[in-house]
Amino acid sequence: MSKLIYVLNGPNLNLLGQREPEIYGTTTLADIERMVGDRASSHGLKISFHQSNHEGELVDLCHQAREKAAGLIVNLGAFTHTSIAIFDALSAVDKPIIEVHLSNIYARESFRHKSYVSPLARGVICGLGAQGYQLAMDGMAEILSK
Ligand code: DQA
Repeated sequence: MSKLIYVLNGPNLNLLGQREPEIYGTTTLADIERMVGDRASSHGLKISFHQSNHEGELVDLCHQAREKAAGLIVNLGAFTHTSIAIFDALSAVDKPIIEVHLSNIYARESFRHKSYVSPLARGVICGLGAQGYQLAMDGMAEILSK
C-alpha cells in the first residue's frame, strides 16, 4: 500500500490565487493540490490534503496524521508564527515534517521571522511559491526511501 503524506495548509490559504497575488502568486490551492498529488504519485506516494482556518482543527489533523501518515508537509500560514498548540501537536508526531511557505518569510515583516514549526522540521522551503510544495514532496520521498 502507498505511504500517505499529510499536506496541511493553515488560515487564509483557501484564498490563494486571489489574495495578495504579488506576494503569494496566482496559483490556487486546488492547483497546488493537483500538482503535489501528481508529484506524490510519481514517487509512489499518496496525499491527504487539507486546509483549515481553525487552529483546533489543525491540531486534530496533526493527531490524525500521527496515526495515518508516513510524513507531513505543512504550511501553517500565520499559525506558524503564533501557535504553541500546533507546536505541541506536531511534537507528538514522530514522522518527518517538511515546512513550506510560498513567500520568503525572512525577507518580510519581523513577526514572520519566528517559526514554531522550524525546530520540528527536517527541512524548510520558503520563497519559491507553489513549486515549494513539489520540492517538499521530492524531499519527503528521499527521506522515506532511506
Ligand atoms: C505563508 C507566510 C505566513 O507568514 C503568512 O501568514 C501566510 C502564508 C506563506 O506561505 O508564505 O499566510 O505561510
